[in-house]
Amino acid sequence: MPTFTGEEAQEYDNRITRLVPGYELLHQLTNAQLQTTLSDDAHILVIGAGTGKEVLALAQINPKWQFTAQDTSSDMLDIAKQRFAKQGIDSRVTIECSPVDKVKAKADAVLCLLVMHFVEDNGDKKQILKSIKTNLKKGANLYIADLMRPETTFERESQLNTCAQLGLTEAGKTQMGHNLEREFYPLDRMRFSELLNECGFGIPKLYFKALGFSGYVV
Ligand SMILES: C[S@@+](CC[C@H](N)C(=O)[O-])C[C@H]1O[C@@H](n2cnc3c(N)ncnc32)[C@H](O)[C@@H]1O
Repeated sequence: MPTFTGEEAQEYDNRITRLVPGYELLHQLTNAQLQTTLSDDAHILVIGAGTGKEVLALAQINPKWQFTAQDTSSDMLDIAKQRFAKQGIDSRVTIECSPVDKVKAKADAVLCLLVMHFVEDNGDKKQILKSIKTNLKKGANLYIADLMRPETTFERESQLNTCAQLGLTEAGKTQMGHNLEREFYPLDRMRFSELLNECGFGIPKLYFKALGFSGYVV
């Protein structure tokens, strides 16, 4: 899996829009649903908050929302922290550089975008989802987006071709093709639903699909 440290963290924002077709739209659609469903006193937990993308945008949408930004990479969170200070929202954000099971929040919504596909389905995915569930208020939603198992034989290659159109170099495309095969742990829809159910969630509803990447609200 990528390490999300050092140069990888520094380069993250430049690269991610070339690696995930529809990256901006995924965030826009997720945020729109929070804007529709949450009140002014909401607390939002962002798992795998990275360089702060979700928090920065949501903090602008509603100036009263509070956040917990969790990630296991201190390098990614350091970048996020600087951005929160620059945007003047640091007092609204609690930063948690720790595993998910150490987080203690009672959230009105949890976001987990582009994180769980790096976690193995050997009990680790389940542990994280269970921890997320304990941090959600009753009836509150989890927004989760991941790379899924391909549904056609031509989906992955089409995804890589889209990445090339988005500016990924030939070498980057080869590397991404390698990573997609060996460094991600994508689930098919059946297993994804089953796992969520095992962790106490309801039926996931698809709200975003861009070739291999799917976003669900549950
Ligand atoms: C592809 S980035 C996504 C960042 C952000 N959510 C976004 O949409 O731009 C994945 C992030 O997940 C973090 N991550 C990976 N494994 C994690 C884990 N087990 N718990 C929490 N964060 C994790 C990485 O450090 C990285 O910041």
